[in-house]
Order: sequence, then structure tokens, then C-alpha cells
Amino acid sequence: MGQRISGVTLKEISEDDLQFLYKLLKQRDPDANISHKVMPSYDEHVKFVTSKPYSKWYVMHYKKQKIGSIYLTKQNEIGIFILNGMRGKGAGEEALRLLIKLNPRDRYLANVSPKNKKSIQFFKKNGFNIIQHTYELTKNEINRS
Ligand SMILES: CC(C)(COP(=O)(O)OP(=O)(O)OC[C@H]1O[C@@H](n2cnc3c(N)ncnc32)[C@H](O)[C@@H]1OP(=O)(O)O)[C@@H](O)C(=O)NCCC(=O)NCCS
Repeated sequence: MGQRISGVTLKEISEDDLQFLYKLLKQRDPDANISHKVMPSYDEHVKFVTSKPYSKWYVMHYKKQKIGSIYLTKQNEIGIFILNGMRGKGAGEEALRLLIKLNPRDRYLANVSPKNKKSIQFFKKNGFNIIQHTYELTKNEINRS
């Protein structure tokens, strides 16, 4: 899958990253993602980021460029998202290792949509095991039945 890269670094997010994080958000595939279905407005995005929703939130840097983002929630869930053109080159693996090294925990979780095959492969390859499938009932579906 293309050339491998190494030398990814993690920097805790700051106000300078708001636009980059919004750009990343625009690349999310709503089908492959559990928690983000609807694109927020930029204002909503800023509110969310500045509310410090996670325990730790980093931007991944490679050769002075921002290439992705990785976070750890208060429930020890990991979320990771890499710019389209930078996927499949080992950056995700490096970022995961760094996050774990910086934030030692007894266990980590990752909520991955069963439709997100690449991401399932990614977490499996990095030692994660499946522990549950969670089913969801939304307002729309309740109203339909
Ligand atoms: C999932 C994701 C974080 C993986 O990071 P990555 O840097 O692309 O993955 P790596 O290069 O470190 O690892 C590649 C492995 O993961 C899998 N993989 C994931 N995405 C891949 C891609 N686009 N191309 C090839 N392999 C991919 C493969 O199993 C691959 O193993 P291989 O190199 O032995 O073939 C990244 O693809 C991404 O940001 N995807 C979109 C966002 C997302 O779905 N995040 C997960 C929700 S929490």
C-alpha cells in the first residue's frame, strides 16, 4: 500500500488546529463512522473542540505537515482519523503506539463501525480484539414503526 513513512509526532491540539480538524471532519465517511453522522457548522465544531471533550487530543504531524488526529476519551476509547492521502502508510500504527506510550492504561477501547472494514483490519492488526456489537435504535426508526 504505497511507501511506509516513519517519524510521526503527536502534538496536543491548540486553537491553531481548529481549521485542520474541521477539514478532517469533512473527510469522514458517515457510513463508516459511529458517532459523527451529520457535519457540524464551523461554529459548532469550534464549540465542540474548545469544550475539551476528550481526555487527550492530538494532531499527528509528519515532516511539518498535519496529517491526522488521534484522541483518548475519559472512558479510554481511542479515536483516530488520518487525511485521505496519508492512509495505509503506517502513520496510524505509529500514532497509536505514541498515544499508548504517552497515556498508559490497563486497557483501551475502540468503537468501530462494522461497515468500516479498513479500520477493523487496522485495530485487529494492532492487537485489539472484538468484545461486543452494539445495536442502535434512533428516533427516526421509532417513528417509522
Ligand atoms: C483506520 C486508519 C486510522 C488506519 O491508519 P493507517 O495509517 O491508514 O493504517 P496503517 O498504515 O498504520 O496500517 C495499515 C493497516 O491497516 C489496514 N488499513 C487501514 N486503512 C488502510 C488503507 N487505507 N489502505 C491500506 N490498509 C489500510 C490494513 O490492515 C493495513 O495493514 P497492512 O499495512 O499490513 O496492509 C486510517 O485509515 C483512517 O484514518 N481511516 C479513516 C478514519 C477511520 O475510519 N477511523 C477509525 C474510526 S475510530
